[in-house]
Amino acid sequence: MITLTINNEKYQIDASSETPLLWVLRDHLNLKGSKYSCGIAACGACKVLVDGNAVPSCVLPIASVIDAKITTIEGLGTAEELHPVQKAWIKENVPQCGYCQTGQIITAVSIYDKHDNLKKDEVLSIMNSNICRCGTYDRIKKALDGLF
Ligand code: FES
Ligand code: FES
Repeated sequence: MITLTINNEKYQIDASSETPLLWVLRDHLNLKGSKYSCGIAACGACKVLVDGNAVPSCVLPIASVIDAKITTIEGLGTAEELHPVQKAWIKENVPQCGYCQTGQIITAVSIYDKHDNLKKDEVLSIMNSNICRCGTYDRIKKALDGLF
């Protein structure tokens, strides 16, 4: 058994230490907001916050996050109090199909919460690590305009 701290809850996970975190989130804990797409840390759809940093969970063995604070899209905000990034995404109606948007939002949150003194170009450069097949980049930029 491996103990993980996810969205401020402790979970006992019956899985190999090499199991990628994304598998545990989706298949063991039914937290399906983090998406599987490329599986090689290239698209960003599976990103979660690990101690505040946005990381691809598809390539992250659970052994490497035993002592970490993990936050998924499900743990970001509540219906009563959304995270400012979530509010900005709603205001600009960013998502199309929505598949990439967990990764987009998680990445923006990591910047907003930890690096809010970055220049806009630097923010956009970090956001470029997330791919959107629907091409919502213009709306993402508008949402970021309201945040940075
Ligand atoms: S599914 Fe993890 S980065 Fe693409
Ligand atoms: S909204 Fe469809 S992939 Fe980004």
